[in-house]
Amino acid sequence: MSQKKDPKDTYVLVTGGAGFIGSHTVVELLQSGYHVVIVDDLSNSSERVIDRIGQIVGEEAASRLAFRKLDVNDKAALEKVFEEFPIDRVIHFAGYKAVGESVQKPIEYYSNNLGNTLTLVDVMRNHNCKSIVFSSSATVYGDPDSLPLTEESPKKPATNPYGWTKWMIEQILSDLTVADDEWNVVLLRYFNPIGAHPSGLIGEDPKGIPNNLVPYVAQVAVGKRDAVHVYGDDYDTPDGTGVRDYIHVMDLASGHVAALAWMNGRTGVEIFNLGTGKGSSVLDIIKAFSAACGRDLPYVIEPRRAGDVTANYADCSKAKRELGWEARYDINDMCRDSWNWQSHNPNGYED
Ligand code: WQD
Repeated sequence: MSQKKDPKDTYVLVTGGAGFIGSHTVVELLQSGYHVVIVDDLSNSSERVIDRIGQIVGEEAASRLAFRKLDVNDKAALEKVFEEFPIDRVIHFAGYKAVGESVQKPIEYYSNNLGNTLTLVDVMRNHNCKSIVFSSSATVYGDPDSLPLTEESPKKPATNPYGWTKWMIEQILSDLTVADDEWNVVLLRYFNPIGAHPSGLIGEDPKGIPNNLVPYVAQVAVGKRDAVHVYGDDYDTPDGTGVRDYIHVMDLASGHVAALAWMNGRTGVEIFNLGTGKGSSVLDIIKAFSAACGRDLPYVIEPRRAGDVTANYADCSKAKRELGWEARYDINDMCRDSWNWQSHNPNGYED
């Protein structure tokens, strides 16, 4: 059971906490009074993030933050963290997340994403810590039969190893609650996280050519790329381009804080969609980002990308009802904050 605890007495381990969603969630956790321990191997993030988080939250809150560089698959290293800190809750972000790359590297994706999860829950059990929030994804819904997607919408076979790892980790964590009724598991199914902290000090910093739309658009806006490549304009949508439920990363972060408060005193597994309930097209995003950066961004229409669904967006009424949480920001806010981050950090966290 997740014992009832005040944030000031609660230690939260955040795996992958130096990453995009992880770092924004850590800011919210610290500002909500929690103690936070980040573990991250920095394979897809920078240690500079830790200092930036400190700048955002200030000295007192930063004193409640610890960082340990490690691979979550390293059981001995993870054991040491649980011996050093009285971990009460875990938020599990660490994992590879590039859809296209996962098709080329299934061994790496399954061994890393599934392996680090199994190592994590084994070490948690050894230390009688059985409360975990998992960073899942709307990708588990596949190509929807109907919209909006609720938590009862059927899970579909994934179309890539990355999606399968999210699908399988949900199953692994659900099975724990059947084997041992002390486990408390929350599966948060994110839709499309974009944006950045309004300070512009932290944001999305993908390595290489961005797979996702908004970081690519941001790089066009800052002059690193020539034009946005729009993957298909012949979908059955209002303007023919793909529709997604984009959610501000700060809304996502506050959703995690709401989930931690909800877990108090609970056992079992619960699923929540974290989205806005509104679908926006690729061209909607390009228009909103053009307004944010003050110029019309060039784009070219390309063939559809394999594996893309036409549209998905969430029904988030369960999170509002149960967690008392709902998204506050729209795509104009998201693009404004993403542009603020990108324009002040054209090379991300590198010099
Ligand atoms: C959004 C829309 C593309 C790039 C995936 C994962 C999800 C989550 C986010 C990882 C689609 C179009 C994209 C581009 C484009 N996980 N697009 N040009 O595929 O909805 O979701 O990433 O972080 O689990 O499934 O996100 O941003 O790649 O695509 O036209 O250069 O933008 O066709 O319609 P996606 P995306």
